[in-house]
Amino acid sequence: MSDLSDPTLSPGEAVCIIGAGISGLTAAKACCDRGLPYDQFEAGSAVGGLWRYENDNGRAAAYRTLHINSSKHNMELADFPVPDDFPTFGHHSDVLQYIEDYADAFNLRDGITFTTSVERVAPMDDDRWSVTLDTGETRTYGAVLVATGHHWKPRRPDFPGSFQGREMHASDYRRPEDFTGERVLVVGIGNSACDIAVDLCRVAEHVTISTRSSAWILPKYILGIPLDQWTGYWMEYLPWWIRRELFRLLVGLAVGNQERYGVPKPEHDLMQEHPTISEELLAQVGHGRVEVRPNVERRDGRAVQFEDGTAAAFDVLIYATGYEIQFPFVPDEVLSVENNRVAFYRYVVPPAWPGLYFLGLIQPLGSVFPLVERQAKWVAALLNGELALPPPEEMRRTIEDTVNRMKKRYHDSPRHTIQVDFWDYVHRMEREWQAGKRRAQTPRGRRS
Ligand SMILES: Cc1cc2nc3c(=O)[nH]c(=O)nc-3n(C[C@H](O)[C@H](O)[C@H](O)COP(=O)(O)OP(=O)(O)OC[C@H]3O[C@@H](n4cnc5c(N)ncnc54)[C@H](O)[C@@H]3O)c2cc1C
Ligand SMILES: NC(=O)c1ccc[n+]([C@@H]2O[C@H](COP(=O)([O-])OP(=O)(O)OC[C@H]3O[C@@H](n4cnc5c(N)ncnc54)[C@H](OP(=O)(O)O)[C@@H]3O)[C@@H](O)[C@H]2O)c1
Repeated sequence: MSDLSDPTLSPGEAVCIIGAGISGLTAAKACCDRGLPYDQFEAGSAVGGLWRYENDNGRAAAYRTLHINSSKHNMELADFPVPDDFPTFGHHSDVLQYIEDYADAFNLRDGITFTTSVERVAPMDDDRWSVTLDTGETRTYGAVLVATGHHWKPRRPDFPGSFQGREMHASDYRRPEDFTGERVLVVGIGNSACDIAVDLCRVAEHVTISTRSSAWILPKYILGIPLDQWTGYWMEYLPWWIRRELFRLLVGLAVGNQERYGVPKPEHDLMQEHPTISEELLAQVGHGRVEVRPNVERRDGRAVQFEDGTAAAFDVLIYATGYEIQFPFVPDEVLSVENNRVAFYRYVVPPAWPGLYFLGLIQPLGSVFPLVERQAKWVAALLNGELALPPPEEMRRTIEDTVNRMKKRYHDSPRHTIQVDFWDYVHRMEREWQAGKRRAQTPRGRRS
């Protein structure tokens, strides 16, 4: 078996990058910067992934009114400043423009084969990877960088009974006009649910949100400063419960008690969930335009019964119940993901499979963009031989620690398997870089 902790690409080997969203593009830029040869495949006809409205990749999930909820300061890539006229919380079209400009600035489009899906990625006996495309062609690579996103496969509960109206997942929601005059139930109280409920409440006859855990509804701004600007580099040095108390004070000042608006207090504490950020939900609940009820107990024709014994009739049920992490092109013997649980070192490296890397498989409080840029640079430096990984046993121990920390910190839900604190992750990756450099300088066997 080769040295799993030495991922250096052998001479003549190339990298395969799957996907041309922000994760795939930062990976391509990092490969270019280090002179690593690569091929990049994208199922759709253009770059941008999730941020391309009506993307023709068969995975479009953005709705017309979607605005990013990470502020522009927080989403900025280290290698590519956000333009001065970019709104603080850009529309999906602004975000797409930024991604397109990034691709053009570094001439990344030329390296992408569009409208080509990767159908299978399988390990070979010599630690290389065979990649099969939907064209039928199979190619061999020294490393595969999976950047295929994790917000495309709907997770959908199967409540008892049946419903005779329209049922759909949030990923198929596009525009409010399609629901004019209808009675809509949105299941869930994450960011999709809140955005959609607020969108619909102006045109629908009535909008209800049903929730099993409720959520802390956070504002986009506190005292005029974007929410994610209140958490800074320095904060990482404080124990998280102190950060939580500071946060509680700030949110208390900005919002007050959400029960007074009509949104129940969650049983879990603040910062024990992926943040639900909505500037408008509480106001619309206060206006009576959005009602909040407990979880669905059963569906019965047009009626839905809730767990508190109440019932109401609806025309449409929208399941804003999140997404499943899946990599359908990776065989089960390499990776089988259940309940969104993945066990990757630094959320990137499966310790048993040298040469396979996953980018963008994190959910931060803050933006994915600069974090995935760091991941991409780290992986390119590993492939380049500048950095090395720890031995697999150490990677497994670190993964176990990470999982245990996450279990203590977040309320138990498949939503919270890849959760990271923005600055905590930045620090860990910086320390990882330094440790990787030291490891690379010690003599060891090379993959050949
Ligand atoms: C509604 C919504 C709002 C969001 N808002 C925010 C936000 O405010 N801030 C934030 O940081 N993040 C947000 N996110 C998270 C979002 O996923 C990231 O911002 C970002 O899009 C992740 O980029 P990615 O490249 O990893 O994945 P994607 O953008 O999903 O791109 C993946 C690409 O891979 C391609 N692909 C997939 N499979 C294959 C295959 N087999 N072969 C070839 N190509 C393939 C796809 O076509 C796609 O282009 C949001 C997510 C959702 C659903
Ligand atoms: N404007 C924006 O920037 C924006 C908009 C939309 C989405 N996003 C991002 O996109 C990602 C996905 O967000 P999302 O809101 O679609 O999904 P999500 O964050 O996973 O939220 C899913 C919601 O559905 C509930 N739920 C899940 N399974 C359920 C079940 N079986 N029965 C009842 N309720 C269930 C969850 O409750 P529990 O907590 O009890 O599990 C939660 O309230 C997140 O990263 C989010 O930040 C961003």
